[in-house]
Amino acid sequence: MPESKRADPVAPNALEELIDGYQKTQVIHVMVKLGIADQLGRGAQRSEAVASAVGAHAGACYRLLRALEYMDIVHEPSPGTFALTALGEQLRSNVALRDALLLTGDVFARWWAGLEHCVRTGESSVPVIEGVSSFEYLHGNTEATSRFNRLMSAMVGGIAANVVSVYDFSAVRRVVDIGGGRGTLISTILKANPQLRGVVFDVPTTIEEAKQAITAMGLTERCECVGGDFFAHVPSGDCLVLSAVLSDWNDEKCTVILKNCRRAVAVDGRLLVLERLLEPERPAPPSAFMDLQMLVIGGGTGRSAPEYRSLFHAAGFELARVIPTGASRSIFEARPA
Ligand SMILES: C[S@@+](CC[C@H](N)C(=O)[O-])C[C@H]1O[C@@H](n2cnc3c(N)ncnc32)[C@H](O)[C@@H]1O
Repeated sequence: MPESKRADPVAPNALEELIDGYQKTQVIHVMVKLGIADQLGRGAQRSEAVASAVGAHAGACYRLLRALEYMDIVHEPSPGTFALTALGEQLRSNVALRDALLLTGDVFARWWAGLEHCVRTGESSVPVIEGVSSFEYLHGNTEATSRFNRLMSAMVGGIAANVVSVYDFSAVRRVVDIGGGRGTLISTILKANPQLRGVVFDVPTTIEEAKQAITAMGLTERCECVGGDFFAHVPSGDCLVLSAVLSDWNDEKCTVILKNCRRAVAVDGRLLVLERLLEPERPAPPSAFMDLQMLVIGGGTGRSAPEYRSLFHAAGFELARVIPTGASRSIFEARPA
């Protein structure tokens, strides 16, 4: 028998806990969606008071609070009175976690319900469920787009300092962050490299958010914000960046994006792909779930270095180096072949 990764695989209710995972997602989703986390952030309260403050049914709200207590999100200092635990406090104060939870409960959970389709076909469930692709769905839904962009921004914000500390941008003149979201990564790169000019490129709705962020950071003189479609064309530069973009798409779509990059990159330029590095044949947790998330959302996937090498090759690039950043994403540096 292969060794199990679970601490106690024979715990009597181990499988039940796994089977009921969807219930836990729904319970914390409803807690935040109804404003119960914020309400309890004001201090311990009786469950009826919480229900009345958030407009919920008193009995059902008490039952939800009991489930939250079981999950250690709240505790019950005296019968019928509830307060946030340290874990629950994060659902009030950590904006990125809240965005992740609300997106998961409102949108991703629906898409994951189509996982069977994804595993049978190797394709995203979103077109079947929504009638449009995931990004078309997100871009048609302002609230979901803003949450998604904030979440991505928080994630890339956590690794941007690592990227500028391990990668030497001193020979670069114009860096273009393609699918650059709100411009979090490019602004970190520009701040660390005063000689550089940059472009953040994304779909027009997201570029409106990037413009505000770039203005707020005082970088309008050095950073253009350009809206467009990377399947059609990307702006030119001597350093093109694709961060958490290729893992959204299958090989065919990646090749279209990469060929557009090949046309746009200077002859002596480079392409930096920032993605999680998977070991060949062996995506390890937590990337195994991240990998399935990519499949569900866009038919995308995590990739190993040999897989990136052959993707690059098909679009006229050569993988030059894989640079660890000390964070979740590595830098795959490619040069025009
Ligand atoms: C997973 S997010 C990554 C964002 C950012 N690069 C980061 O590292 O956090 C993918 C980005 O690709 C953008 N995108 C999706 N389809 C696009 C398209 N057809 N043209 C341009 N950008 C697109 C999305 O709006 C989103 O900002």
